[in-house]
Amino acid sequence: MEKTFLMVKPDGVQRNLVGEIVNRFENKGFTLVGAKLMNISQELAEQHYGEHKERPFFGELVDFITSGPVFAMVWEGENVISTARLMMGATNPKESAPGTIRGDFAVTVGKNIIHGSDSSDSAAREINLFFKEEELVSYDKSM
Ligand code: CMP
Repeated sequence: MEKTFLMVKPDGVQRNLVGEIVNRFENKGFTLVGAKLMNISQELAEQHYGEHKERPFFGELVDFITSGPVFAMVWEGENVISTARLMMGATNPKESAPGTIRGDFAVTVGKNIIHGSDSSDSAAREINLFFKEEELVSYDKSM
């Protein structure tokens, strides 16, 4: 079954949006298979956002993501990678539709509440960066 990495960023944790966000993915029908509240080290931030290294906002991005606790999660379900991206809304909240997480809760691109993997390669890489295999569970929801 497909898995994706989602993370409530420091602004979302600070604004008490963890429950709201978990609720949206649970209500949709996806399965939470890993989660932790954690601080991101400088090294992990630079690895996670490695593809943006040359961008002018890289320093700001790393400073922000390490500025307070994040809530890292792994979700499982059919087409969860692309569906979670739809539910999050466009990266820039100026363009994210009402009803999406960023459309409902964010105003600026730097503080856009949530991160989600954009492809199956990114999902595998990001899950691996943040979680050990034994930190992920597998269970039968019909029990
Ligand atoms: P995310 O999905 O976590 O992936 C990269 C992040 O870079 C993105 O969300 C934005 O929060 C951030 N980002 C993109 N453009 C800018 C920008 N112009 N200034 C600051 N942060 C940005």
